[in-house]
Amino acid sequence: MTPSRSTRGIILAGGAGTRLHPLTQIVCKQLLPVYDKPMIYYPLSTLMLGGIREVLIISTPKDLPQFRNLFGDGSHLGLQIEYAEQAEPNGIAQAFLIGEGFLDGSGATLILGDNIFYGKLGFFREALELKTGACVFGAHVRDPERFGVVEFNTAGKALSIEEKPKQPKSSFAVPGLYVYDETVVERTKALQPSGRGELEITDLNVAYLNDGKLDVRVLGRGVAWLDTGTPESLLEAGNYIGTIERQQNLKVACIEEIAHHMGFIDNAGMENLIASTRNPDYRAYLENVMRHG
Ligand code: DAU
Repeated sequence: MTPSRSTRGIILAGGAGTRLHPLTQIVCKQLLPVYDKPMIYYPLSTLMLGGIREVLIISTPKDLPQFRNLFGDGSHLGLQIEYAEQAEPNGIAQAFLIGEGFLDGSGATLILGDNIFYGKLGFFREALELKTGACVFGAHVRDPERFGVVEFNTAGKALSIEEKPKQPKSSFAVPGLYVYDETVVERTKALQPSGRGELEITDLNVAYLNDGKLDVRVLGRGVAWLDTGTPESLLEAGNYIGTIERQQNLKVACIEEIAHHMGFIDNAGMENLIASTRNPDYRAYLENVMRHG
């Protein structure tokens, strides 16, 4: 049986991080702190909350070892994490060519390592249930020209998607979370590099759209999609997460808590994680989560 699309997730965490220079001289963007955790914890949490346990992390040859140091094989979290290099930033869709062996004929969920979602993730879980085609999302934003932009007809059906259009046809950006069926590798192989020499994720989405196989779902107001691409938005994302954590006294994207909550690890596994946690506050939080759920 071909594994369902929901089983394999890819986190793309490469790129040059130019807009965050000189921060990204020291450490790559996806390892920069967002309040109290490295940025990549957030997209990893999103995948885990969707029930995805097999994950491929793609990054640059320079930065990949740091991700490996951080997560190892993922077994302490009940995950299987693999790693692959992207030698040059030749486009987001290249992730499927790099990940072809990892996907092994199954569908794929891709999340960009700098995309943070907060709120009810039902929209994502429902997308993972789709049997064929692809599902992407539309998020209402102030500055759609910075993103892939989806145009809808009055019935809410997607008509077009354009990458960073000068004159956006709507205010709905396509966030960096994409669910594809098992045709994704084949379709990516048929793409041509864009004018800027990249395999564009928007071109892949348009390929599905032109075949009538793309579902675009609007994110409701209860879901926050946070940008981390500039110093201002990185600070705002950190403040947003910090405000929620302090107000609720609950952590956002605590991967240990999520692994336990999702049943990826049992109490013994959680106790091991607690024992290896050096920060006393973080450790107390995990102890409390294990005892009281
Ligand atoms: O965040 C959502 C947007 O992400 C989408 O709306 C756009 O359609 C999509 O093209 C992308 O736009 P960005 O302007 O954010 O793309 P950027 O080139 O900055 O790449 C996004 C992330 O992916 C970034 O953290 C670096 C990483 N990346 C990018 C490329 C092109 C790679 O790891 N490898 C790559 O080859």
